[in-house]
Amino acid sequence: MAKVKTTFFCQNCGTQYSKWQGQCTACKEWNTIAEEILQKSEKKTYNLGSDTSNRVSKPLKINEIDGSTESRIQLKDHEFNRVLGGGLVNGSLVLLGGEPGIGKSTLLLQMALSINKKVLYVSGEESQKQIKMRADRISPDSNNCYILTETKTQNIFKQIQDLAPELLIIDSIQTLHTDYIESSAGSISQVKECTAELIKFAKETSIPVILIGHITKDGNIAGPKILEHMVDTVLQFEGDRNHVFRILRAHKNRFGSTNELGIYEMQGSGLREVSNPSELLISQKDEGLSGNAIAATLEGLRPLLIEVQALVSTAVYGTPQRSATGFNAKRLNMLLAVLEKRAGFKLAAKDVFINITGGITIDDPAIDLAVIAAILSSNEDNALPNDHCFAAEIGLSGEIRPVTRIDQRILEAEKLGFSKIFISKQNKISTTIKGIEVVLISKIEDITELF
Ligand code: TYD
Ligand code: MG
Repeated sequence: MAKVKTTFFCQNCGTQYSKWQGQCTACKEWNTIAEEILQKSEKKTYNLGSDTSNRVSKPLKINEIDGSTESRIQLKDHEFNRVLGGGLVNGSLVLLGGEPGIGKSTLLLQMALSINKKVLYVSGEESQKQIKMRADRISPDSNNCYILTETKTQNIFKQIQDLAPELLIIDSIQTLHTDYIESSAGSISQVKECTAELIKFAKETSIPVILIGHITKDGNIAGPKILEHMVDTVLQFEGDRNHVFRILRAHKNRFGSTNELGIYEMQGSGLREVSNPSELLISQKDEGLSGNAIAATLEGLRPLLIEVQALVSTAVYGTPQRSATGFNAKRLNMLLAVLEKRAGFKLAAKDVFINITGGITIDDPAIDLAVIAAILSSNEDNALPNDHCFAAEIGLSGEIRPVTRIDQRILEAEKLGFSKIFISKQNKISTTIKGIEVVLISKIEDITELF
């Protein structure tokens, strides 16, 4: 009998070792290295299309290469199309990651039901009945969507040969296993091998494949980082499970930009595309409440008006609390220090809480000015006029700094009926703007005069 070949993999980062050790030298995690059996190496038998292994490719001059753009499948879901860079490229492999329960299966099932192509949805997690129940909630009836509950790749390929689908969805890659590797489903070597088989399948047949991938507790796609290198596109579905908004982002895209982003709302009947997110994110436009300010931010390439809420109260304990939801807490500390030093506000003995509504996390530095405005508004208990909004970064010396794509932000604010926007004096506006007053400010004191 042949000797069983085994190797050791870090279950966190996928690094391979020839023997066991306590700590992974690559990612520094403890107790993540496990033995996996690699045996079995009979000839792989799935055979779809011609065997390409013996083909020799020749170098070509770059201007002789056929440069026509890849053919894409247009999905019914416009947000998804946009994130993919204008549709699903034939023969591409897309990996969709996200926390459990965030709605990955719902998103893809919904897509499978609405598309005008023959789709095979392979689930290793749920039974056909469960999927049917979910499909009934989402509703659009489809006679082109096939559901298969299977976890062995060889069986999946066999079904594909009979069915000849035009799109393959795998829910999820961690449940698959192949005959050519002995270790259990979900282990590094299984995930790698199954993905490699699917890539080969996609490239040979030009059928696009979408994989669902689980993520680990620190937010990375579970299993190997290598998986992200292997696929063409990595999408992340994120959001706060207690809120209705979900954001679809591209982390890597070989066929488009990674700046685009899709916004959805989770409803009783599935996910709804949100094409005008700003209107939903601004909660109470007509009530004058202190501590609220609107920021004109950009998420990817999309302008997004968002409400920042601040609460400033006298600290009960010696050390004041600083807490931020949806905003970087270190940045909050910095803004408070600037307010203290440059504008003379005594916030050292105050608790400060910041919340970005809608459960969305904002990285755009243009939100700074709105955060400052919300803090001052709460501190003075003085509501800001509800038709004002802000878009500028704050520097350490209290200067108001310019931000990118200011025209787009101003136009979005104008579209939503704001009458005044505060921006940096150094920002150059190139378009003519009529319906909104643009207030140019240069230092933090200019904003404190509002209160
Ligand atoms: P699911 O797609 O199963 O998440 P994942 O595959 O990422 O683990 O979605 C799970 C949640 O979505 C579930 O908690 C209920 C909610 N949901 C709705 O609110 N409305 C719906 O129509 C559907 C199908 C799910
Ligand atoms: Mg699922």
